[in-house]
Amino acid sequence: MMKSPTIKPVAAVGLALAFACGPSGAADLMAGQAAFEKFACAACHGADGKSSVLPTYPVLAGQHADYLQHALRSYQRGASGSGAVNTRSNAVMTALVPQLSDADIRNIAAWLSSLPSDLAVRR
Ligand code: HEC
Repeated sequence: MMKSPTIKPVAAVGLALAFACGPSGAADLMAGQAAFEKFACAACHGADGKSSVLPTYPVLAGQHADYLQHALRSYQRGASGSGAVNTRSNAVMTALVPQLSDADIRNIAAWLSSLPSDLAVRR
């Protein structure tokens, strides 16, 4: 069997990079909060994600992150007008979501889901 001395260092560098950058889906909670403020989401949903300006606006704090991501991407698909399935349409949200990057969505969803709320049961 041939020995390859280069394999180990390459694997080590790969591991180090993986830890430095995190898995590709890793979310940044602080960036999520910053984006939530930057895009004025708090104006309607409340700075805490649950004190909405109108009681009919959905509570976001404590919601599952994958649910929130799915909702935001569904508005994006609706906004794109591509005829995709699984779209959502809402006058306000449809107008807002095109400016959100994939990272914004991941980070905002992770931050919102980390917030205390009656929507989630913490064990
Ligand atoms: C002008 C008010 C307003 C602003 C600003 C706003 N939203 Fe919304 N948001 C709404 C309303 C109203 C709904 C419910 C829409 C519907 O029925 O589809 C909603 C729905 C949502 C939902 C779906 C929740 C669920 O449980 O299905 C998410 C997620 C969301 N907003 C996130 C955001 C984010 C992130 C931002 C900032 C980029 C934002 N919103 C800005 C009013 C607003």
